Amino acid sequence: MWAELAPIGRHRDSGGYRRYAWTGADGDCRDWFRAQAEARGLTLETDRNGNQWAWLGDPLAGDAVVTGSHLDSVPDGGAFDGPLGVVSSFAALDELRRRGVEFTKPLAITNFGDEEGARFGLACVGSRLAAGQLTVEAAHRLRDAEGVTLPQAMAAAGYDPDAIGPDPERLARIGAFVELHVEQGRALDLTGDPVGIASAIWPHGRWRFDFRGEANHAGTTRLTDRRDPMLTYAETVLAARREAELAGALATFGKIAVEPNGVNAIPSLVRGWLDSRAADQDTLDTVVAAVERAAREHAERAGIDLDVVRESFTPVVEFQHALRDELSTLLKGAAHGTGRPVPVLGTGAGHDAGILSASVPTAMLFVRNPTGISHSPAEHAAEDDCVAGVTALADVLEGLACR
Ligand code: GLV
Ligand code: MN
Ligand code: MN
Repeated sequence: MWAELAPIGRHRDSGGYRRYAWTGADGDCRDWFRAQAEARGLTLETDRNGNQWAWLGDPLAGDAVVTGSHLDSVPDGGAFDGPLGVVSSFAALDELRRRGVEFTKPLAITNFGDEEGARFGLACVGSRLAAGQLTVEAAHRLRDAEGVTLPQAMAAAGYDPDAIGPDPERLARIGAFVELHVEQGRALDLTGDPVGIASAIWPHGRWRFDFRGEANHAGTTRLTDRRDPMLTYAETVLAARREAELAGALATFGKIAVEPNGVNAIPSLVRGWLDSRAADQDTLDTVVAAVERAAREHAERAGIDLDVVRESFTPVVEFQHALRDELSTLLKGAAHGTGRPVPVLGTGAGHDAGILSASVPTAMLFVRNPTGISHSPAEHAAEDDCVAGVTALADVLEGLACR
């Protein structure tokens, strides 16, 4: 499976993945998913929001056990964030068939569309639409950096953008959703465990800061005559770092757009996106408010106009305790063989499982990442740990779907 998936959307120079929603690379990932489903005799469905489902058993029977993740990536993402969950799902099904188990519930493997939000700026579009956490109107307004709207991109990929919307009946037929994911920190490396169970996802969001000044000549405009939004932006980045440090939170400006973006021109506009996350809502609110306050103070002093828009927000997710405890029980004494209970850990990364948790009992398994690096071509998981992840997922699915 990895050999076929590896070349899709991989950038020649960086070695990272550029699998953005509704592009050719995304289509190739979807074709790969279809081929995996067909090779196993599963029934492929694409829902109204473009999420893929590969079914074993009757999709309409209810109380289905669903597992899967996403195949899209951030700009120059790693090989594992998303695909490890999908590949492991198919591998776990193969393992259960090898064990000769009898399924008493329908099982589905999913590929949720546009999880990273790399193209349209909003993460988890496929699962948000399904769960009714993103309105059709708001989805129709999403635009990429070239000005292409989400409906235009979907139509160009052969999907019907007028069909998108909430899918409560489909979600009501799910009894449990389990997403396996590469860990995106070093918690498992530090405890020495190949596999962990998720406890919670930190609240997180994305805020767009538009700093507007005055374009002018870099060689002739005296420093005192400038209204340079890059300076205010830079001061805001430093403030974000400082506030996050003070609060024990995270704040990142990882993307900017500059106009006119000329080497010898003072910018007229610097647009920066703040990604901020914290263990609790109050801390997150405090950090973002402090960053905005600092930005406004600097902007006012420098004659810069500032607009701040919250582009997305995901509240804290506490995974359902009953399902989480069931996973712990199912994995007790499991083949990954540390002799200790599987650790339960929180994460600052967002996931479709977090979005779905408002509608469906959800749980997550994490597979050790020896460096913790993620959203980078250097993201890694050792083969033994991936196999331990598949075994753990198979144990969980056997316990949930084969009673
Ligand atoms: C998704 O990977 C996120 O940004 O949390
Ligand atoms: Mn990710
Ligand atoms: Mn992911």
